[in-house]
Amino acid sequence: MNKFVVTLLLAWQPWLVSAGELEVLHYWTSGGEAEALNVLKSMMKKQGHVWKDFVVVGGGGESANAELRQRVVQGDPPTSAMIKGPDIQRWARLGFLQDLDQLAQRQKWDDKLPSLIAEVTRFHGQYVSTPVNIHRTNWMWINKKILDEVGAKVPTTWDEFEQTAKKIQAHGYAVVAHGDQAWQDATVFESIALAVGGPEFYRKAFVENEYPVIKSDTMTKVFAQFRRVQPYFKTDLPSQDWNMATDAVIKGEAAFQFMGDWAKGEFEKAGLKAGRDFICAAMPGTHNQFLYNVDTLAMFKLGNKADQAAQQDLANAIMSQEFQEVFNLKKGSIPARMDVDLSKFDDCARLSRKEFHIAEQNGALLPSIAHGMATTARVQEEFYSALHDFLHSPEMNDRKAMVILAKRMRYGSYAIN
Ligand code: GAL
Repeated sequence: MNKFVVTLLLAWQPWLVSAGELEVLHYWTSGGEAEALNVLKSMMKKQGHVWKDFVVVGGGGESANAELRQRVVQGDPPTSAMIKGPDIQRWARLGFLQDLDQLAQRQKWDDKLPSLIAEVTRFHGQYVSTPVNIHRTNWMWINKKILDEVGAKVPTTWDEFEQTAKKIQAHGYAVVAHGDQAWQDATVFESIALAVGGPEFYRKAFVENEYPVIKSDTMTKVFAQFRRVQPYFKTDLPSQDWNMATDAVIKGEAAFQFMGDWAKGEFEKAGLKAGRDFICAAMPGTHNQFLYNVDTLAMFKLGNKADQAAQQDLANAIMSQEFQEVFNLKKGSIPARMDVDLSKFDDCARLSRKEFHIAEQNGALLPSIAHGMATTARVQEEFYSALHDFLHSPEMNDRKAMVILAKRMRYGSYAIN
């Protein structure tokens, strides 16, 4: 081999060793979501890795989880997948996740993440997943022009909401844009449950799955409030995807959307500004309470050294301040790292972090059941179905719905997950 070729090979070798393929499973397909993910893609491409999207369409991630199970069972896991909450523990317990603890020690993740978030991403004390953000699900998004035109203020209770809704209707606008999908119903319901029952009720019912708390008069009241909101839903959207509902608010076709702060990514992508064009506020009755939903990317165990190195680079990048800032500016969430400065963020993000801390102090920082943070996938599935069936059965009374929910959740928690 001539000297020139040898030199060339030596020079290329580090690249050859570290360039891996990153096949990443996710469901971030809306405008804002895709833009946010592009931040990570270009960081990885710059490091020489090949990014391969493994997209499973479907907001909320139900289909993505099913697809992931399929691939892992076939012995062909992706490099990385977006998984959340107790699912992280489950995959780790089964022995499929890469241990990220050495990197975590070097980067001092313990000092940078809120303890609650760190706990979610650890298994037996070791980090097995990387949190990209903190979403809050108990938000409402309001078209400011409509609210001003009807002369209403941001409602802070459900009674105020109804008065405002009537004014909005009187002016010929639809009130709440809502996608007719079970996970979107669940997103609204969990906030109503928090408002009606309070944080302790929420924790016992949806985190600890205590049967007498689920099968209770308080839960009947939650269903009653859910039913009262239903007539204000506008579901005749071009499709039932959540971002179509956001789009209706952006275009002034409806005044509100009840949705997590990924919706903000869509407002921003459309060039709208928080405070000027749209308003973000806690769902009625949930001021200073925080339902969290943390997206994390976990790395699956793989044999190939180059892919393993790529996984380390991916985890390393995710936990960098730079990524946490730029990604979350586009995603609508706040950084998982608490030491990332929010000066480039808008008032919604600042409010989010502020209420995160207040809620943390008051025992009102709670995992979202609608987004896989509170309980097993089986219980969540039963929860979804009970709510969706209720909204689609106008004859079903609140008490009956409560009993069905309790039974379904009990069945889900006994079923092998
Ligand atoms: C959530 C997820 C968010 C957002 C949303 C809509 O479950 O955590 O990142 O993508 O679904 O798909």
